[in-house]
Amino acid sequence: MASSDFAVVILAAGKGVRLRSALPKVLHSAGGRSLIEHVVRACRPLKPRSMIAIVGHEAEKVTAALEPLNVRTVLQQPQRGTGHALMVARRSLGSTKFALVVPGDAPLVRSETLAALLRTHRQGNAAATILSAEVPNPAGYGRILRRQDGTVAAIVEDSALTDDQRAINEINSSIYVLTLAKIWPCLGKLRPDNKHRELYLTDAIALLREQNEIVLAQIAPDADEVLGCNTRADLAEADLVFRRRKRAALMESGVTIQMPETVLVDPDVIIGEDTILEPGVQLLGRTRIGERCTIRTGSILSDTALADDVLVKPYSVLAEGQLGPGTQVGPFAHFRPGVKLLKGARVGNFVEVKKSVLGEGVKAMHLTYLGDARIGSGTNIGAGTITCNYDGVHKSPTIIGKRVFIGSDTALVAPVRVGDGAYVAAGSVITENVPADGLAVARGRQVNKPGWAHARRKELAAEKKKSSRRKTSRAKRGSKNSA
Ligand code: UD1
Ligand code: CA
Repeated sequence: MASSDFAVVILAAGKGVRLRSALPKVLHSAGGRSLIEHVVRACRPLKPRSMIAIVGHEAEKVTAALEPLNVRTVLQQPQRGTGHALMVARRSLGSTKFALVVPGDAPLVRSETLAALLRTHRQGNAAATILSAEVPNPAGYGRILRRQDGTVAAIVEDSALTDDQRAINEINSSIYVLTLAKIWPCLGKLRPDNKHRELYLTDAIALLREQNEIVLAQIAPDADEVLGCNTRADLAEADLVFRRRKRAALMESGVTIQMPETVLVDPDVIIGEDTILEPGVQLLGRTRIGERCTIRTGSILSDTALADDVLVKPYSVLAEGQLGPGTQVGPFAHFRPGVKLLKGARVGNFVEVKKSVLGEGVKAMHLTYLGDARIGSGTNIGAGTITCNYDGVHKSPTIIGKRVFIGSDTALVAPVRVGDGAYVAAGSVITENVPADGLAVARGRQVNKPGWAHARRKELAAEKKKSSRRKTSRAKRGSKNSA
């Protein structure tokens, strides 16, 4: 197979000083994934013979992030520059013919662009092929110096530019395909005669030219792809691009997104046709949404699965739940992990639910807390019902049967069961099981005292009159004394 003659080398040993962060640069996130994971995912479809990451700063953390992605690491200690980074990979690369070098902080590059770069390199018989880009603001990047024949003469770092060169807007992305047999001798000749006293990989380009080797530069189809995330502002920009790409893909697949620039969707989220996302919605983690759902404004769903025809009303916050077909929640519903709503169940405003199953057609419409509860189909939970699932030490379950009617303002002190078809009177504090088809009333009995309020008002009026008379006579005495 033609592709097995190259390895991917990801440069990820640097600290990322410009981010001012305790976290190493490549572990910062944009578009819902770490920078380095984006890079790995862009390279993997090319089927390289191996993927190696050069790690150094906070090497353990970076290695731990790379392990599940099946990327080997090589330690660069100390970090003496991008040229030095490639040198430390030499032994691991063995006799591999080509290396695709990608910096760990360039998350936006696409697989197709990398594949095209490899093709150009092979077809052009080049020693090095650089992915470049034409950008309106090249400041900070190395610039590509071309020769008359269009091949590359050198890369000049931003800090070393002459005034004439500063206007060049073709930049180095730091993504290269290198013919390794030709690059190793040049790396040996690198000198740290630059601002940072480092061995720059970019300097190897001019050295290849001195050997009369061919160096090509291919312009990326989309300048966004080469954005290097050196600062927090760069991260924000990369995040915007990823979010835009994800929304565009969703719209392409039949999802309506209103005011798309306000909607944030993580990369692994899946959404069915004819679902509508209103402004300000966030869909996070592994959220899965069926067809014909509506997620209304301000709702935040993480790791939540929605079947078809689900309506999430405004400002609902749902985590790690499963909502069956035709269910409705919100506005202002709060699901903590472990909630399952079966077909047609409805949860209304200011209802918090945790680790509970609500059967088909269950309704809990107002101001309720349901935790560790199992509720049978067709049951109605009255406003203000609370499952008292925590005694300060243990969590206990509340089991409610089918077609039960729980009156408003009921406290269900768990563990407790309410049988099928039972009624619980409003305002009850239920501490004992309720038998099927029975009625439980658990509150003080009402006492009516006819005329009591009228008599009380009369009494109060009389008291008021008496005290105001006392005040006037005292005031009269006072004015005599002072005269
Ligand atoms: C580099 C290029 C510049 C290019 C830009 C594109 C050099 C000298 N400059 O600059 O021409 O326009 O990328 O984004 O190469 N790294 C190591 N070991 C080291 C130093 C760096 O692994 O000793 C890694 C970093 O972790 C990073 C990558 O190499 O992922 C690039 O390093 P960085 O410091 O970001 O280079 P730039 O200044 O952006
Ligand atoms: Ca960089």
